[in-house]
Amino acid sequence: MHEYEIKILQALKGKKELGFDDIVVMSGLPKDSAMWAIENLSQAKVVGVKRKGASEVALTQEGEKYVDGFPEERLLKEVFKSGKLDIRGIKDQIALAWAKKNAWIMIDGGMAVITQVGKEAAKEREYPARILLQKLASAGPGAGAVVQKNQQLIGVLAKRGLLTVRERSVIDSVAPLQDPARLLSSEKEAGIGTLTRDMIKSGAWRKERFRPYSINAPVEPLYPARLHPVREFINYVRQQWLEMGFVEIAGPIIEAAFWNFDALFSPQDHPTREMQDTFFLSNPRQISITDMEAVEEVRAMHELGWKEKWSENLAKEALLRTHVTALSARYMRKLANAVNENYPQKFFSVGSVFRNENLDYKHLAELHQYEGIIIGNNLTFANLIDSLKKFYAKLGFEDVKLRPSYFPFTEPSLEAYYYDEEHGDTIELAGAGIIRPEITKALGINRTVLAWGGGLERFMLSARMMGLDSIVTPYKNNVGWLRSRPNIKV
Ligand code: DAH
Repeated sequence: MHEYEIKILQALKGKKELGFDDIVVMSGLPKDSAMWAIENLSQAKVVGVKRKGASEVALTQEGEKYVDGFPEERLLKEVFKSGKLDIRGIKDQIALAWAKKNAWIMIDGGMAVITQVGKEAAKEREYPARILLQKLASAGPGAGAVVQKNQQLIGVLAKRGLLTVRERSVIDSVAPLQDPARLLSSEKEAGIGTLTRDMIKSGAWRKERFRPYSINAPVEPLYPARLHPVREFINYVRQQWLEMGFVEIAGPIIEAAFWNFDALFSPQDHPTREMQDTFFLSNPRQISITDMEAVEEVRAMHELGWKEKWSENLAKEALLRTHVTALSARYMRKLANAVNENYPQKFFSVGSVFRNENLDYKHLAELHQYEGIIIGNNLTFANLIDSLKKFYAKLGFEDVKLRPSYFPFTEPSLEAYYYDEEHGDTIELAGAGIIRPEITKALGINRTVLAWGGGLERFMLSARMMGLDSIVTPYKNNVGWLRSRPNIKV
């Protein structure tokens, strides 16, 4: 007999019948193990089992999307804000239908008008359907109690295609068919299940009879500690750069506009400055630039290049860096006038950047970027393309495609992208180019600088690397997902 079966029999000793939950407590076994042992005992006709029906509920893909909010909730928010809304402007018919069904809105003369019920619902923000979906999502398959209490709502959500419900029969109670005490004592005679240190030391094991060892016994899945997937990707991408001979550089997340924009020739009153919607800080509001020589060089570059007055005050504005190119600018400056015969020099960075951006499957507001720069003599556009292609090939993108692009700090500029079969979409990987000579000159570099950089999380979308539906997934910190997530493939 297996030791789990013995534990079940010990729990059943002197009992006529025992509920499954009590057996689990008394045997001290995990549920799965108790279930497995009881099924074995039942097959051997040692115990009889009473079963009951239970529904197992799982979220559909559509359901997963609704966890963060139902469409009718978003509609309610909008109508609440404005009081009424022209229904011709409402594209989401499902949202409209459910908002009506919930009596949140009335339709009056072509307008969706908020009701008293709607006003209260908008203030309360506790939409039972969403709360239930969230509970089910975080409870996983063991959500028995939640399911019991919410039968009706579960029916509704299943009809909406947000849930699937599967009926299963589970063990309700167990009754011994043979006397557990007698079985346990004859079990003792059957032999020993565990070899102890003392038996080995004293040699007593020589006289013992051992039970055969079962290697087919099912065990609980084991989840060893592992890194968060984003951290694993950061390490992985760093490794690729290091293997290509790039040296890592790092720097501040809170940055002066000077390094994020001005030193990179991004004009002060031009849309390119908002091309990356930026989080400006109120504390500190400004960061002073101590490198006065660089300030004067950058001023001259702007006033000559853009034919506009340049304000040092605007350059001092504190912000969350929008790209790690800010770091490349700092580093170019650091290398100004450096005498080093070993050119080209290659540097890379991987770091957090921030953008005031709406989330979707390929966009985050807080993300990571990598960037590489090569500084050398007589470097050409062909060198850039060659290095860039080698980099992406190392990461599994042998078919990376290039197209012309525009960035204020590179000329010529290009964009690297690939077509993702699974998403049926073009995914941009990086911007690239030769840093403008105006910039290198202003920063005191009399060599050519090649650069490329992009969003790190994007790699996770590709089936060649991880194949995620969305780069938001790793940031939800769903422990079940983090444990069972796919590995990096390349
Ligand atoms: N920093 C740019 C961005 O965040 C991307 C980029 C473009 C990086 C061109 C580069 C480059 O290194 O050369 O959108």
